Amino acid sequence: MTIKTPLCDMLGIKHPIIQAAMGPFYTTKLCCAVVNAGAFGIISHTNLLGVDPVKEMEKNIRYVMENCKGNFGVNIRVARIQIDAPALMELIVKLRKEDPEIKDRLKMVVTSAGNPKPPAQFFKEKDKDLLLFHVAPTLYHAMKVDGLCDGIICTGYEGGGHQSYERVNTTVLVTEAARHCKKPIVACGGFSDGRGIAAALAMGAVGVQMGTRFIATKECEFHQNYKDFIVRSRDSDTMVCQGAFGPIRLLKNKYAEEHGEILSRDEKMALEAQLDLEAIREDNRKYALVYEGDIDNGPVLCGQSCGNIDDIPTVKELIERMVKEAEAEIRKLNSYLK
Ligand SMILES: Cc1cc2nc3c(=O)[nH]c(=O)nc-3n(C[C@H](O)[C@H](O)[C@H](O)COP(=O)(O)O)c2cc1C
Repeated sequence: MTIKTPLCDMLGIKHPIIQAAMGPFYTTKLCCAVVNAGAFGIISHTNLLGVDPVKEMEKNIRYVMENCKGNFGVNIRVARIQIDAPALMELIVKLRKEDPEIKDRLKMVVTSAGNPKPPAQFFKEKDKDLLLFHVAPTLYHAMKVDGLCDGIICTGYEGGGHQSYERVNTTVLVTEAARHCKKPIVACGGFSDGRGIAAALAMGAVGVQMGTRFIATKECEFHQNYKDFIVRSRDSDTMVCQGAFGPIRLLKNKYAEEHGEILSRDEKMALEAQLDLEAIREDNRKYALVYEGDIDNGPVLCGQSCGNIDDIPTVKELIERMVKEAEAEIRKLNSYLK
């Protein structure tokens, strides 16, 4: 017996686990390892300084096509400021049209950090077979996504990377979305083991998506210093700072302390009004530093689940362990029924 949810059928995967996108960094090799282990891998929207995101996306898709067998997805950040998003959407449609194998395996686009309506309209018109999930940080957003997309990634405040000003935690978000939404819900933010999977399914999700936990794996292409930093960090070692485009959860380091805690929404509006290309480039330079292993002077994006991560297994070892743990948890819960 194994755990099989509607997400497995929808995406054509064995285990109801999705590896989260983690741009501006690369998750291309990680995606291959995740796919080979029977879960769903996602190629990130990479825009580190000096790279062309559209060319990089095509290269990454071709790499994944050649280096694993199984279905995968891509992330496109669709925030207003993300000027490359329309070209990335066109690219996905073009590649799926040109190549039946890509069409068969590139099953889903996850859009995030912006309004789901334009990508939903675009894909409905140009490629209606492609699945579209969108990231939602509050019930309000989840209900909007529910009417537009094929699935909802409900991402709570304990997760790593970009966050919303509303600060809703995963437990609250997933349970309320499960009550109010009709589309499949993927629980995201704070998951790192099989107990988490069992809990997410009990809350009404059809699977989990994880970022932080997958960074600390052998195949992830992040720098070893990044992985080691996660392993030695506790649940209280992250904070939420003001990033160039909104709040970001990251590990406490020199960069985070200099940036300080998150601002209010009004302060953020004032900051965004001043955002110029040079500020964005500077932000990008800091991400590039981190990616090269300097974990003091840039944003080391990471969720609170780092407190529950104390090893760097292979992706296959991690997924097998998580699934076994989740099965044991579900059996235990079943035994509570008298
Ligand atoms: C290093 C890093 C980079 C991220 N970049 C992106 C991104 O480009 N697009 C996106 O939708 N989410 C991004 N996220 C958020 C993840 O997709 C996911 O929501 C988050 O990692 C879930 O929480 P967890 O870290 O507790 O698993 C990022 C997260 C991390 C840790």
